[in-house]
Amino acid sequence: MPNIESTLNETRVFNPAAEFVKQANVSGMATYQTMCAAAEQDYTGYWAKLAREYVQWKKPFTKVLDESDAPFFKWFEDGELNVSYNCLDRHLATQAEKTAIIFEADDGKVSHVSYRELHGRVSQFANGLKSRGIRKGDRVIIYMPMSVEAVVAMQACARIGAIHSVVFGGFSSKSLHERIIDARAVAVITADGQMRGGKVMPLKPAVDEALSFGGCETVHSVIVYRRTGARVHWNDATNIWWHELFNSQASHCEPEWVSAEHPLFILYTSGSTGKPKGVQHSSGGYLLGAMVSMQWVFDYKASDIFWCTADVGWVTGHTYVAYGPLAMGGTQVIFEGVPTYPDAGRFWKMIQDHQVTTFYTAPTAIRSLIKLGGDLPKQYDLSSLRLLGSVGEPINPEAWMWYYNTVGQARCPIVDTWWQTETGCHMIAPLPGAMPLKPGTCTLPLPGIMAAIVNEAGDEVHDQHGGFLVIKRPFPSQIRAIWGDPERYKQSYFPAEMRGAYLAGDSARRDEDGYFWIMGRIDDVLNVSGHRLGTMEIESALASNPLVAEAAVVGKPHDIKGEAVVAFVVLKGARPEDPTKAKEIADALRNWVAKEIGPIAKPDEIRFGENLPKTRSGKIMRRLLRALAKGEEITQDISTLENPAILEQLKNTVS
Ligand code: PRX
Repeated sequence: MPNIESTLNETRVFNPAAEFVKQANVSGMATYQTMCAAAEQDYTGYWAKLAREYVQWKKPFTKVLDESDAPFFKWFEDGELNVSYNCLDRHLATQAEKTAIIFEADDGKVSHVSYRELHGRVSQFANGLKSRGIRKGDRVIIYMPMSVEAVVAMQACARIGAIHSVVFGGFSSKSLHERIIDARAVAVITADGQMRGGKVMPLKPAVDEALSFGGCETVHSVIVYRRTGARVHWNDATNIWWHELFNSQASHCEPEWVSAEHPLFILYTSGSTGKPKGVQHSSGGYLLGAMVSMQWVFDYKASDIFWCTADVGWVTGHTYVAYGPLAMGGTQVIFEGVPTYPDAGRFWKMIQDHQVTTFYTAPTAIRSLIKLGGDLPKQYDLSSLRLLGSVGEPINPEAWMWYYNTVGQARCPIVDTWWQTETGCHMIAPLPGAMPLKPGTCTLPLPGIMAAIVNEAGDEVHDQHGGFLVIKRPFPSQIRAIWGDPERYKQSYFPAEMRGAYLAGDSARRDEDGYFWIMGRIDDVLNVSGHRLGTMEIESALASNPLVAEAAVVGKPHDIKGEAVVAFVVLKGARPEDPTKAKEIADALRNWVAKEIGPIAKPDEIRFGENLPKTRSGKIMRRLLRALAKGEEITQDISTLENPAILEQLKNTVS
């Protein structure tokens, strides 16, 4: 597909400030290029050196990369390590009393946990898991709220070599059931409930229900952390309270030394079919990716207060909450609640209160906070911030500029990080002391990540042309398998046309500076009158209109054009009720898009809502939008939808 059209035209450039460059872990483009050249010249030697520098090995590896059974790659396979040891024990001699976690509860209560305490808690809980007969290689489902205990649970699994699979607390019992079955889990770690925005929400009942669906005979233990004090149904045969299990254990637990290729976790993610894929990660390569990206992209310093707002139910909460910051010996904030409670200034207040230096969140959060109070950050002292990050979707230039000016006070670089559940860590992202930034691009690949853009035949396309984003060489942090489905793994990520490259599933283009602009998922690319358009680019154009808070674009079959563009739009002001008014605004927006991109991208239909259908983690549920656009009844699972009422609103109002 040589001509996916890429029409976004952003020309602003922000060079790194001299003071930032001076203190950066990677300073200046020349240093970055030297690192890239080192990786080019001796690819395995480059990664081996980093693996020796960053990771503490119980038994050093002698083999670096084994490609003999490609695409089932193995990294550092004969090396032995323990990821929990690397995150905790290694810091005890030098900084046992340093705060590892600043936890802020939904109600604002703050607690600090030192490395010594965290190490003790993880060891004690790990002994608890062993006392239930849980062993190396067993799968353990974690279905918990954002809490210190969720991290303890993950680290404890890592400590004993059990493979965790965290299921986001917003998933339904049906999704949970599906994952328990697929992973053939032996235990579920959960909580009675969770606190969000001042409300008590149940969790344990979903576990009970999931287990009642049948087929879960493998599960012999359900460990329940008491958070809300809500009454819960109790099954004496399998249920045990976290505190009862924990209190009876010793606080020393020898780590289980595992091969670098031992699976650390499985994380389920959506693919192109309805059945979620169990993305399986390794121990050694994954840890290395988490650490180098902390160092390079987050420019990690021992004095940082790092805050990644992602839930541990998503990969971002794995790599940049549960593992990366701890492996680096950092101090991080973990937040139980929601950004809008008690008001939309919560994030900014927390940055002020905890003196956060590095703040990492998602564009959707940024956009909704703009809508709820674009001036609110000004009421807080955000001078502790030195670096901002964005993840999960392309950040539209308008949101980028607001984040840069209003939150970062034109002082903090923004790292727009492109990566996926499957890649384990950042792949394409600015090294903030090296790269000039442009709003809307994740810039350049990390040194040693051989990203490229290719056409359907797997040939590289010229700059400025759109195509498939691939990574040409295997890299340490990448997915090792889809749990239990090697064929799907091969087909999804290594189709024959790509000739051994990892197919990311995104389309992208590269500009004249080699910067990558992500255009959207391959399945979100539209073909309008023979022109291919990235839906996210139309969204970005809409979102740059001063009236628009947020927009999502999907395709709809069209007799003449092949596909037509349908836009779902949330305005900054009130949703227009009057059809004449709605049409007037819709026409203005069409003309705006025509101006920003070209008449071809004009939405045929615009539907206004007070919000978009989103999961509780803030991802827009595009499948639902596609169904709405086509006028279909919604038959899909909407159990993860935060705001089901919005579907009615978007159904009938076409402008
Ligand atoms: O389409 C890309 C988008 O999110 C997808 C990966 O989603 P997930 O596995 O849930 O992981 C999200 C957190 C890493 C990608 O295929 N995506 C992620 N980050 C960006 C992005 N799109 C554009 N820019 C980004 N920075």
